[in-house]
Amino acid sequence: MYNQQFWNGRYASTDYLYGTEANAFLVENVHLLQGPVLSLSEGEGRNAVFMASRGLQVLGVDCSSVGLEKARALAELHGVVIETEVANLADYRPREDHYGSVVSISAHLPGRIRERLYPLIERCLVPHGVVLLEAYSEAQLTKDTGGPKDLDMLMSVEKLRSEFPNLEPLLAREIEREVHEGEGHTGLASVVQYIARKRV
Ligand SMILES: C[S@@+](CC[C@H](N)C(=O)[O-])C[C@H]1O[C@@H](n2cnc3c(N)ncnc32)[C@H](O)[C@@H]1O
Repeated sequence: MYNQQFWNGRYASTDYLYGTEANAFLVENVHLLQGPVLSLSEGEGRNAVFMASRGLQVLGVDCSSVGLEKARALAELHGVVIETEVANLADYRPREDHYGSVVSISAHLPGRIRERLYPLIERCLVPHGVVLLEAYSEAQLTKDTGGPKDLDMLMSVEKLRSEFPNLEPLLAREIEREVHEGEGHTGLASVVQYIARKRV
């Protein structure tokens, strides 16, 4: 499967590459989410476990079976239940009109995958459903604190506005912030933060 071997290798160690604490932007805004939540590129489960601990029903999707195995182990450790599904987002079809929220944390995807997936993300949300996304911005290309070295996979507010035409942004900004989320993301970084609601 696309990317699976690479990410299974990245997650092979027993350590958690991005730590076990949830992403800071998600923690600040979890009160805006409603379930069920679809978490894209969930990885080793830190965000899904956090949301489940807040009472949300979560499905974490990722191409890495190793990452999702660690996610389930983390959930068990914290005494919460999460659902997981190994899938390639390049051909994934989320259930339509079902999710209260979609969460996308550092889920960097090439434009050709977003072009197919993002309309399906809009359609998988119930009316007023919410997308919460944080990703490295294009300004991160020259920084060595994390993220892909590929402009196409880095995000901007303009890309999000045009790729999610049926969502109404509640927050859409590019900022610099200190990211300390495991050894994979460490230091001053340029990120896009986006929260939007499905128009009815
Ligand atoms: C930078 S990690 C972020 C993991 C997690 N969201 C977090 O914040 O801890 C990127 C994740 O994207 C997943 N991924 C990359 N390409 C993918 C694809 N085509 N389909 C599904 N998952 C993918 C990887 O397996 C990896 O878990």
